[in-house]
Amino acid sequence: MDVPRVRLVSGSARGLGLAAARRFAQRGERVHVVWRSSGGDALEREFPGRTHRADLERAEDWRTLVEAVLARDGRLDTLVHAVGEYVWGATSAASAADLRRMLASNVESAFLGFEATRAALRSSRGNALFFGCAGLEGQRARQSTAVYAAAKSALVVLTRSWALEEAPHGVRVNVLSPGFAPHEHASADTLDAGAWTSIPLGRPARLDEVADAVEWLCSERASYVTGANLDLAGGWML
Ligand SMILES: NC(=O)c1ccc[n+]([C@@H]2O[C@H](COP(=O)([O-])OP(=O)(O)OC[C@H]3O[C@@H](n4cnc5c(N)ncnc54)[C@H](OP(=O)(O)O)[C@@H]3O)[C@@H](O)[C@H]2O)c1
Repeated sequence: MDVPRVRLVSGSARGLGLAAARRFAQRGERVHVVWRSSGGDALEREFPGRTHRADLERAEDWRTLVEAVLARDGRLDTLVHAVGEYVWGATSAASAADLRRMLASNVESAFLGFEATRAALRSSRGNALFFGCAGLEGQRARQSTAVYAAAKSALVVLTRSWALEEAPHGVRVNVLSPGFAPHEHASADTLDAGAWTSIPLGRPARLDEVADAVEWLCSERASYVTGANLDLAGGWML
């Protein structure tokens, strides 16, 4: 029988990261989860011995985290990085601090995470998955999310570059880009049902649909998929 995979899911105290972590756990896999400011006790009950506290904008926290995963399970097959803050507003209302925050949260944390996990993923010929946002492919202008989308666009270029570099080592790297995926702690914009009328399929994504896409992209069924950016948006931004 196959040894259960070892999956590390960041941003997993809530929302899309938690949905992904639960899906892997339902499959009987060894799932490491990460919290920063709250939710640690509940996570520890659900993922005993594999719950970690870290600020993933810090390189040393990533190093400690990956060491702990390897000490516990001896390998790492998947990194799912579901961290990434959001800011709303026109560029004229944004500050340089907003831009730095978006780059630190969405790009730098991912960069540090891939650096910290690259060797372990090469050893397992594993895979990494990052979260973008819908509509990055056309490099569209944005009226209200330009700073956030600019950071996510930078992340897509980085992930494609990692996919290219790591293909000879058997490591796949992809991006999953939701449109609206509401959950209890989602932003007010995500929870605004009025905005959902612009989604061609007529509704936002369910968390199980996000988990389906994560599970597939990180599975052997997607063994020929790397450098992809998959929109999961019900046709929004087409
Ligand atoms: N939900 C959507 O509709 C949607 C749409 C498009 C894209 N996305 C993207 O999908 C990803 C997940 O979305 P989500 O809605 O689940 O996000 P979320 O509700 O904001 O949750 C993100 C989680 O990441 C954690 N986190 C943030 N910064 C961290 C850091 N430096 N170190 C450790 N943990 C950190 C947060 O912990 P704290 O509680 O400590 O802050 C939180 O638990 C994000 O990249 C987001 O941009 C989501």
